[in-house]
Amino acid sequence: MDIDAQKRAAGEAAIEFIEDKAVIGVGTGSTVKYFIDALARVKHRIDGAVSSSEQSSRLLEAHGIKVFDPNAVGEIPVYIDGADECDPQRCLIKGGGAALTREKILAAIAKKFVCIVDAHKCVDVLGKFPLPVEVIPMARSYVAREIQRRGGTPVWRADCVTDNGNWILDVHGLHIEDPLKLESDWNQITGVVTVGLFAHRPADVVLVGDGRRF
Ligand code: A5P
Repeated sequence: MDIDAQKRAAGEAAIEFIEDKAVIGVGTGSTVKYFIDALARVKHRIDGAVSSSEQSSRLLEAHGIKVFDPNAVGEIPVYIDGADECDPQRCLIKGGGAALTREKILAAIAKKFVCIVDAHKCVDVLGKFPLPVEVIPMARSYVAREIQRRGGTPVWRADCVTDNGNWILDVHGLHIEDPLKLESDWNQITGVVTVGLFAHRPADVVLVGDGRRF
């Protein structure tokens, strides 16, 4: 099965987790796009969605799905999103699409976080995919030095301003054996908005496009 077919299979499989008459959390990316297409076919069952990016909000609205402000809905039953890497404990690297902060917020307010990936995203140890870190623009250089001091190689993502008006550092050269510790530590660096490591709030279920789930 090629990668695109796997993304479609994972996106469509996630439909079984939606709850009737609920507001559904929807993430960002090419795998989620397949989920949104599938969601559009059953949109009569749900009240609407909260979304992790302007891009996904536009797609949802184009399908006639109402998009709510997360502040207006409280807890949501389920959040469906992709990832850039996933380990066996369901810890994730996210933010390849620059939506990591809003993704972390939706994961935090969701009762269940369902992650949809193709098989090549599944790794034993996170870190081959450069770890995205969203930073306040005036702190970019300071945060980069602090990350270097911790053994990472940060690269300022070119031409990228997040939906929150911030910048992204992509951190290369990591081998993340203790994701909980790294997430806690890097969260303490002044100027960091969000570390794209989802370890304290990992996925609850991972649906892989080759049919596996864990
Ligand atoms: C968005 O910021 C990311 O966290 C995405 O969830 C991730 O990049 C997955 O994207 P694809 O589904 O396009 O591979």
